Amino acid sequence: MPQISIISSSIRKGRKSHNVSLYFQHYLLSNNLATTEIIDLKEYGFPIFEDTLKTMLNPSEKVLEFAHKVKSSDGIIIVTPEYNGGYPASLKNAIDLLYDEWRHKPIGIVSVSTGPFGGSQALVSLQFTLWKMKAWTMPEMFSVPNVQNAYDEKGNATDKTVTDKLAAVFIKELLWCIAADKAKI
Ligand SMILES: Cc1cc2nc3c(=O)[nH]c(=O)nc-3n(C[C@H](O)[C@H](O)[C@H](O)COP(=O)(O)O)c2cc1C
Repeated sequence: MPQISIISSSIRKGRKSHNVSLYFQHYLLSNNLATTEIIDLKEYGFPIFEDTLKTMLNPSEKVLEFAHKVKSSDGIIIVTPEYNGGYPASLKNAIDLLYDEWRHKPIGIVSVSTGPFGGSQALVSLQFTLWKMKAWTMPEMFSVPNVQNAYDEKGNATDKTVTDKLAAVFIKELLWCIAADKAKI
């Protein structure tokens, strides 16, 4: 069974996108599709970026742990909110720490906003950054508009039937990418 890590990017007090991370964790586990854990950037509390792991003289345990989790995951779901048309500094801060660890990593992007457009601008700019890191961002995306009404604090979707249907398509594609990566084609 593949290991899919979910990066929860918002470190904001009262954050809503974390509820979507919880939803995907439940979805993967309850459907027995993958082993999974949430890599919660709020828990890591990385200082503002100064150096990449590769050139750090004394990397912290937290940086080493983050790098290990990214590298050892078969696939990654990144859940990002949209702030002023982009993805949050907390996420860029963490992405820039690593380089080789992202290479060829199958990644699905989930974008979130409280508005009607589901963080579509954050999604595009995040995809561009990940391409620069040579990650494999898959074409299937998962956008969440009006997140405040769509998920509760425990990650339950308000409209479970429709949300599960959309998640099934998204996760199926990610699993395909992971299998293709493992087949070394
Ligand atoms: C600094 C800031 C900027 C925002 N800019 C946008 C934006 O450009 N587009 C949008 O749809 N929502 C925007 N929002 C609303 C967010 O989509 C909303 O706060 C969402 O809940 C953020 O995710 P989070 O709660 O997990 O941090 C912004 C929110 C903040 C705090």
